[in-house]
Amino acid sequence: MTEAGRRPLIIGSGIAGLYVALRCRELGLRPTIVTKARLEESNTRYAQGGIAAAIGTDDSPRIHLEDTVKAGDELVDRAAARILTSEAPARIADLVRNGVPFDTADGRIALGREAAHSRFRTLHAGGDATGLSIEEALKRRVLDAGVEARERTVLRALRPGTRDGPVAVLSNADGKDVEYSTAGPVVLATGGAGSLYRQSSNPSIATGEGVAIAFRAGALLTDMEFIQFHPTAFCREGAPRFLITEALRGEGAVLRNEAGDRFMTRVHRDAELAPRDIVARAIDREIVTSGHPCVYLDATALPRDLLFARFPSVCHFLSTYGLDPSRDQIPVAPVAHYMIGGVTTDLEGRTSLQGLYAAGEVASTGVHGANRLAGNSLLEGLVFGERVARQLLHPAIGGPRVPDRTVELSLPTGGGRPEEVEEFEQVRTTLWEEVGIVRSAEGLASAVEQFERLVNVLQPTRSDTMPGPVANAALTAWLIARAASIRTESRGAHYRSDWPKRRPQWRVHVGLRLRPPRGHSG
Ligand code: SIN
Repeated sequence: MTEAGRRPLIIGSGIAGLYVALRCRELGLRPTIVTKARLEESNTRYAQGGIAAAIGTDDSPRIHLEDTVKAGDELVDRAAARILTSEAPARIADLVRNGVPFDTADGRIALGREAAHSRFRTLHAGGDATGLSIEEALKRRVLDAGVEARERTVLRALRPGTRDGPVAVLSNADGKDVEYSTAGPVVLATGGAGSLYRQSSNPSIATGEGVAIAFRAGALLTDMEFIQFHPTAFCREGAPRFLITEALRGEGAVLRNEAGDRFMTRVHRDAELAPRDIVARAIDREIVTSGHPCVYLDATALPRDLLFARFPSVCHFLSTYGLDPSRDQIPVAPVAHYMIGGVTTDLEGRTSLQGLYAAGEVASTGVHGANRLAGNSLLEGLVFGERVARQLLHPAIGGPRVPDRTVELSLPTGGGRPEEVEEFEQVRTTLWEEVGIVRSAEGLASAVEQFERLVNVLQPTRSDTMPGPVANAALTAWLIARAASIRTESRGAHYRSDWPKRRPQWRVHVGLRLRPPRGHSG
């Protein structure tokens, strides 16, 4: 292996980035991890419910696999999901070895339940502070292991490099101090795009730039239309959309509409524990038909001690609004939560560009199909992070899986007139309204047109000028809307009012790729 090959550059510091960095170091490589904010700031940090793994005595990786496949609405890549579920127990053991303090009961790791899981298999830490506990433990281990870590360092672009990998263009947060990495392996672990939506559970850094940068560099993307909406975030005028974890419903909390009616029992036989897409849509329907801005999560039948021990963060947050979940109903509504699609990878995290890898939410491994199961996202970052680290140690030529259909898209050419576009904030509103829980051809067409105008203004006209973070965020919004307009059916998290049913011909993954410039032979 060349010296450059021994020094992978990892972009992003959620569970996937930190774990790849740690494992690379343990395997004798010399990784550098960079992140655009602080090392501990990521979507992982805010994960409440937990991480799924079949470690219970009544459970098995096969049952976990079947639940994952069922929730994914016919689009789960079975080979990838088999890896996810069968390697889960070993990766959990790694987390324990690395100091993650999972909650226990009677001397064993305690297991919670979340929607569409047929078994109790969700490990949690600090009650509902699972992501925070994992993030803090891994961060400590990464720093103790002597990994070079650089904060407030932004990936701006990927340029062609050598057989080892691309050149990463980095800058500080203000876009200054631009530097070019040595060509070598780059691992994208940049997370999701939830905060592009007006209503989101994600921190503001989750703007999907990794996807846009990979797309501009020519990498294949898959399943970009599948954005998962979490059914229950706190909903009160002026308050943050704080996640109210699904694990509360796993413990027995129920949903009621404004009239007090437990509407989910009419929608699905598993009621509040139906797959997430079904619960999110049912709540949205209640809100639209009633004109009332939220529904209510009712946990008042649960013992107060249990609520405060198992969900301390949620209880603390609610107390700042004068609410006590053992007494009060919690106003909730759906929010954008998770990007299911992303940069296409194979089972070792390899993308379509040599030396570029992806792990975690930015990657599309195919494990989630059209609708992700709770707790499988932290797990995906770990399981495929491990595979990426091993691949970096012994790189082998390979490419990602090939989607059933691939659509080539030309980038807007740039040079649009700034007065033709709305403020970027409008993107967040349009994504929420037109590319949200319920979509239609008309709304998607107008969103695509609006985002295209914006990308056109922000896209540099000179090839030596780099697009800024806002241009990349706008491009990701455009890619989501384009993908959603291509899929003329409803499946999993993608629901279209003009095509409300699943259609057999759409039991396929759709890829997006940048159309090569004219005259390009490759
Ligand atoms: C939750 O705690 O409800 C979110 C868990 C997840 O998205 O996996």
